Amino acid sequence: FSGFVLENEPMSRHTTYRIGGPARAYVRADSLRSLVDVIDACRIRGLGWFVAGRGSNLLVSDEGFDGVVISLGAEFSSCAVYDDPDIVVAGAACPLSGVVRKAFEAGRSGMEFAVGTPGSIGGALRMNAGTRNESIGMRVKSVVSYRPGAGLKRYGASDISWGYRSCSLPSDEIVLECELLTKPGDAMIKARMEGAMARRRKTQPLTFASCGSVFKNPEGESVGRLIEGVGLKGRRCGDAQISDLHANFIVNLGHAHASDVVSLMLDVQNAVRVEYGIDLEPEVRF
Ligand code: FAD
Ligand code: EPU
Repeated sequence: FSGFVLENEPMSRHTTYRIGGPARAYVRADSLRSLVDVIDACRIRGLGWFVAGRGSNLLVSDEGFDGVVISLGAEFSSCAVYDDPDIVVAGAACPLSGVVRKAFEAGRSGMEFAVGTPGSIGGALRMNAGTRNESIGMRVKSVVSYRPGAGLKRYGASDISWGYRSCSLPSDEIVLECELLTKPGDAMIKARMEGAMARRRKTQPLTFASCGSVFKNPEGESVGRLIEGVGLKGRRCGDAQISDLHANFIVNLGHAHASDVVSLMLDVQNAVRVEYGIDLEPEVRF
């Protein structure tokens, strides 16, 4: 591989969980050309690959990944606000927080819901990141992506179905850029953002390493409440712990292994199945 390449790179350096064994190679693709080259090289060598954003929804195994982790760089990192139409154009590698800030600074409304959500625009689109009421898919005007074998494509908003923490893009489709619809802001943008951030600090264990919510909420339910109901709040396995503050966060107290987190996830799934007859689906990606 050419360009910025790290061999045997611990994925614990690239995940908010601070967990994960080595990737055979960690490659930064700074341009479309280098992205295409990396994927071609993987195909020729028979290596698996996946694109990582900012690793805020990833649990990488302790054994690591015997393939290539691709991170998008320079050409995919710009973010600009336009007035007519009211849009923000953001590269997939932009931090979601940067897009929220730019929209706010330009007096645009629409991105406040995402305040405090870590991750990149690419990861946010793949996950349709959001809150209970709003998600990024609701703001999308278009998405530009690259798919090996199919090339570049521009999707309009209605070409993609946006689900709860999911979207209909094929799994090997790489998001490169998107247009997000905003509207002229009002005097309350700042207050809405501060309010959302204060709620988050109060209800989520932000001082520990985590991946955010581990499981998706079942329809009309809250996983935090279900886990409390089975008495697992606070349970530890090694340095992983079901948070005392929010039971759907399994936090890394320091040196947790992926296997510790998985062990707690299995405890939760078993107990919730027995008590409530509900199968919890992970939100975190493996
Ligand atoms: P990663 O974790 O790196 O990857 C996630 C998935 O996206 C992987 O499948 C990856 O292959 C794919 N992906 C990444 N980039 C691309 C790309 N360019 N093209 C195609 N696929 C790509 N989530 C919420 O929805 N709401 C919240 O309120 C929220 N709060 C959180 C709070 C904390 C403290 C933490 C740690 C996480 C939280 N999350 C939340 C989860 C996480 O922030 C989101 O899922 C985020 O969108 C993931 O983005 P990422 O760039 O880190 O993606
Ligand atoms: N609750 C408990 N016990 C707990 C935690 C929560 O009983 O330990 C109860 C709360 O009292 C509340 C309800 O569960 O009545 C819902 O809790 P909260 O408001 O914290 O929201 P959530 O449903 O747990 C969802 C998203 C979060 C997002 C918040 C705010 C999912 C899986 N999680 O959490 O997203 O930040 O709403 O909108 O949808 C993420 O996806 O990673 C994430 C953090």
